[in-house]
Amino acid sequence: MRFPRPSRQAAPSPTDERTAERSRERAQEQVRVAEPSRVVLLGGTSEIGLAVVRRLGRGRSLDVVLAGRPGERLADAVVALAAEGHRARAVPLEARDRTTWTPALESSFDTASTAGERVDVVVLALGTAPDGERSWQDPLAAADLVQVNSAAPVALAAGAAQRLRAQGGGALVVVSSAAAVRARSTDFAHGASKAALDAFASGLREAVRGDGVRVLVVRPGFVRTRLTAGRSAWLATTKEAVADLTAHALAGDDDAVWAPPGARAVVEVLRWVPPRLLRRLRL
Ligand SMILES: NC(=O)c1ccc[n+]([C@@H]2O[C@H](COP(=O)([O-])OP(=O)(O)OC[C@H]3O[C@@H](n4cnc5c(N)ncnc54)[C@H](OP(=O)(O)O)[C@@H]3O)[C@@H](O)[C@H]2O)c1
Repeated sequence: MRFPRPSRQAAPSPTDERTAERSRERAQEQVRVAEPSRVVLLGGTSEIGLAVVRRLGRGRSLDVVLAGRPGERLADAVVALAAEGHRARAVPLEARDRTTWTPALESSFDTASTAGERVDVVVLALGTAPDGERSWQDPLAAADLVQVNSAAPVALAAGAAQRLRAQGGGALVVVSSAAAVRARSTDFAHGASKAALDAFASGLREAVRGDGVRVLVVRPGFVRTRLTAGRSAWLATTKEAVADLTAHALAGDDDAVWAPPGARAVVEVLRWVPPRLLRRLRL
């Protein structure tokens, strides 16, 4: 096997080095998104996801793709956004059917109907919160939880980041959970499924940072949506508050958002509470 000879190059001048250093710094700069015009929501009926879309389009008209399970809820979401002045369309996506993942992304990034305009923000908000007991007592339910909350979102995050990179940049918002960092003992399977997504998204954030792609990890605590209907919690917040924090973070430099912000402190404290005490508290 022949190897190419090392070419003799002149030593770079201080000006070249400064230029190279500046472009390295620029590559590390955070992508800020203040007024996006094209947004994709993976989990097209998610109450939190739709609140983020509405907040990003406040006072403006957006081009929105809602990728989700076909049905009345998805169709209603398209109609509602259209009534608010946005251009919205639905794309089929089922987390349990991996043959839908790539076509959903391809269709979401398609520029045929947007005169070449690229996607500014992808919001990944699909997920489920099943019965905490069943998800560890029934092995198939445990596997299903990982499929919907981890496998599909991880694949979609990877695919979306690749497409954002290919088009020259953009932002990916991954809706994780405070439970990803510290799961409740009564709902640890759910926390575990979110932890996989959170770790993947946090790694992806660093991997694509230099390519003009921003990955923002959002960790809500307890948010009043249909996912939590019939339950209550201390430090409960609203989807609008999560959306507000997310929009602010996108316009700034933060790598992660906790909603409400106090959820972070609670999680940090709980990490240091001895297991024996936690057992008694049933947290
Ligand atoms: N609410 C909270 O307290 C809270 C806290 C922490 C994290 N989160 C996370 O935030 C995200 C959004 O939750 P949300 O509160 O907005 O609840 P939501 O309105 O119920 O949204 C869940 C989304 O996931 C979709 N989904 C569920 N299973 C799916 C599947 N098999 N294939 C495709 N899509 C599927 C739902 O679609 P369908 O309409 O078809 O069911 C819906 O669009 C979730 O990832 C959730 O885990 C929520």
